[in-house]
Amino acid sequence: MVMTGESGVGKTQLIQRFARGVFAVESMNTVGIELLQKVVTVGECNVRVQLWDTGGQEKFRCINAPYFRGAAGVVLVYDLTNRQSFTSLSYWLYEVRQKAAADVSLLLVGNKADLRDQRQVSEAEGRAFATEADVPWLETSAKTGVRVSEAFEGLTQRICHQPAAQITSVKVRKSNSSVGSKHKRSLC
Ligand code: GTP
Repeated sequence: MVMTGESGVGKTQLIQRFARGVFAVESMNTVGIELLQKVVTVGECNVRVQLWDTGGQEKFRCINAPYFRGAAGVVLVYDLTNRQSFTSLSYWLYEVRQKAAADVSLLLVGNKADLRDQRQVSEAEGRAFATEADVPWLETSAKTGVRVSEAFEGLTQRICHQPAAQITSVKVRKSNSSVGSKHKRSLC
């Protein structure tokens, strides 16, 4: 999975919250690309999800582009307290659709839902954009953790349930070894 969107929308903190259960108020800009992993249970399988965090600053855009190509899923993030990060979604969506595989699973996330009094993008606008783009959407807070697991686990399930997932995805591997888990299950 690849995280993308403008700088400062909370991509790093969303995956930190999901993968490690932590949140940092002081978060450094991501330089290039960083990787975190998390095991997600889908049905009877443990899936090792690779979360690629891309730097949203303009200077990193050409570095990030190749990662879309190998992605099984892309999370497009905007900051609902920052209208500009929402208006630039058309650019990010175009980039992803140009560079990612045709069957890539997308998710649109409006982050910083805890900052209710600073909201610049309404729920209705987020939902309307998602409907128009035909992409699932939800609002999260990396700070409080609201709907963060739902976002990543939902996308993982959609990826795993794609007919070609076992064959084409380089992010999903099969093995009989356990992965830091007390329950021995196969990796799918
Ligand atoms: P780049 O690495 O430059 O692309 O930025 P990013 O999208 O990874 O943003 P990052 O996760 O570094 O977060 C930017 C700032 O927003 C930090 O100060 C975070 O603490 C803050 N932040 C991220 N998510 C939330 C959230 O859900 N709520 C609030 N209140 N602040 C958040």
